[in-house]
Amino acid sequence: MKKSIKTAIGQLAEMERFFAGDFSVKGRRKTTSEQEPNAVFSAASQNPAGDLGKIAEEVRQCRKCQIGSARLNAVPGDGSPRARLVFVGEAPGADEDAQGLPFVGRAGQLLDKMIHAMGLKRPDVFICNTLKCRPPENRDPKPDELYNCMPYLKRQLEIIRPEFIVALGAHAAHILLETDKAIGQLRGQFHTYSFSEHANPAQLMPTYHPAYLLRNYSDENRKRVWDDLQKVMAEMGLKK
Ligand code: URA
Repeated sequence: MKKSIKTAIGQLAEMERFFAGDFSVKGRRKTTSEQEPNAVFSAASQNPAGDLGKIAEEVRQCRKCQIGSARLNAVPGDGSPRARLVFVGEAPGADEDAQGLPFVGRAGQLLDKMIHAMGLKRPDVFICNTLKCRPPENRDPKPDELYNCMPYLKRQLEIIRPEFIVALGAHAAHILLETDKAIGQLRGQFHTYSFSEHANPAQLMPTYHPAYLLRNYSDENRKRVWDDLQKVMAEMGLKK
């Protein structure tokens, strides 16, 4: 059954709300500052490395989509289980499929430069994708693939509970923000990514995907991405 991306995202969000016991009319969740000062916050994972490892193992066993059978390696994600900042890309490419690690090809080299320019190192952050398997010929993710794979990403984010998320490109931004607005409209400003009830939401900055930037390596685009990352750095208290 073919689903549009918006329908797939909507269905998953509705299912999650249902199982979370939120049967009320859809509405904005309270931000941390709006919650009562003595509210009991649900604890984040006590063993984030172990819990992420379990998800990685599930991902490696997963055959929900055809691309799961065609892959060389699944690419669950990599980095610090206690990262303050998580980068979410689109899907593994050929290099990532060969190594089982995210962002290790040309786009990954550019992402490494971006991370270093922020004053961070790759092991300081966590890097993952909306899809954990490589789509053939690097085509766009299909709605059913996103629907199948999204729970892994959401669980990873729930375990790490980063303060900041950088969504690399339109696919990541659309999935995480449940919108289909153009990346050009979304980037440059923080959006809220909500975890389970009572947990502090993450600040999410959408920006252009490094692969897009490599294809369109103009001063203007580089400045746009750098501006977006500088906003994240400022909020994180990282020095310029
Ligand atoms: N592009 C992505 O979106 N993710 C990767 O892991 C590599 C390239």
